[in-house]
Amino acid sequence: MATRTALRRALPSIRSAVTHPEQQLRFTRSFSTTIPSLAPTPSSSSTSAAPEYAIPDPSRPTHFGYETVTESEKRERVAGVFTSVAESYDRMNDLMSFGWHRVWKDHFVASLNPGFSPLTSGPDPRGPQHILDIAGGTGDIAFRMLHTAHNLNANPSVRVTISDINRAMLTVGKQRSTLLPASQQAALSFVEANAENLSQTRPLHPYPSPVEPTSHDSHGNQEQAFFDPATATASIPSSSVDLYTVAFGIRNFSNIPAALREAHRVLKPGGVFACLEFSKADRFPVFNALYKEWSFRAIPLIGQLVAADRDSYQYLVESIERFPSQAAFRDMIVDAGFVVAGQGYEDLTGGVAAIHKGMKPRV
Ligand SMILES: C[S@@+](CC[C@H](N)C(=O)[O-])C[C@H]1O[C@@H](n2cnc3c(N)ncnc32)[C@H](O)[C@@H]1O
Repeated sequence: MATRTALRRALPSIRSAVTHPEQQLRFTRSFSTTIPSLAPTPSSSSTSAAPEYAIPDPSRPTHFGYETVTESEKRERVAGVFTSVAESYDRMNDLMSFGWHRVWKDHFVASLNPGFSPLTSGPDPRGPQHILDIAGGTGDIAFRMLHTAHNLNANPSVRVTISDINRAMLTVGKQRSTLLPASQQAALSFVEANAENLSQTRPLHPYPSPVEPTSHDSHGNQEQAFFDPATATASIPSSSVDLYTVAFGIRNFSNIPAALREAHRVLKPGGVFACLEFSKADRFPVFNALYKEWSFRAIPLIGQLVAADRDSYQYLVESIERFPSQAAFRDMIVDAGFVVAGQGYEDLTGGVAAIHKGMKPRV
């Protein structure tokens, strides 16, 4: 209670600090060091023209774990991974992380305090809030958001959209959501979309069984388990979202700068981008060596034994290894036009995971 009161007192000054144009420039300058492979043009932190690397290109090389593939091939192979793991995903998360993913997710959501957010809503901190949970999968973050907003902060005017490229994962999430209180179910919606282009989305079209690789539509045509832009019917409007969250999803994207720019587009000025992702624990060499040993030896084996799918879990481990360091990812967030406070991220469990946050400037 005392912490919340202190925070409430401090927030106006924090808000004015990050919304004052000169301060924003200083925030941006002090953290925007160039990532060599993504060398931004001088205008890359402006929101007007997307630098070339932030425009999805199906034929551009990227990586899928340790392999080099094209952006479109990565998208299809990542879709294959998550279609394959959808039904075992929640159980496997507990086994692979000894339940730590729950602690990280609880902390992530508590740090954003949905439903009471002077930084993301209007004059009334308990006003309406639209949260977009990207790569929301089976709903872990969205459900926690609704619980905190509706139950702990007594704010029923918070609604959450769960968006994911993979219909099989969303279908499991939709099924799980039937256990939520009716008021929370009413505040939840599911959309299929590629995070790199949120102007093409469609409401969830339930997928019969995530374990089936394909299904058929009402005309008997074969359907893919993942989002097909040709069937998109809607766009997430620019400046419509108060809080954008992405947990353990962004390292799977084919073009991360494109997704960051989309996050920037859909957020309202003053809105917050928040990402929970695996990161680097290399500040603690002994711990890091043990962690790597566990990741590379045990996780694919558990995947094989529990989910009969070694390859998908091998990919998940390699994708963690390939993801940029905390500082490099923070710089990508700044290059997409966000301002960050302090060092821009918080390490969890020695850096095994990290939370990055950025704010879309108000002007
Ligand atoms: C490891 S799961 C994380 C799910 C959930 N956020 C959680 O924390 O439990 C990663 C999710 O990212 C989704 N994903 C991968 N690439 C995507 C993309 N380009 N756009 C949207 N979602 C994507 C996958 O379909 C999968 O559901």
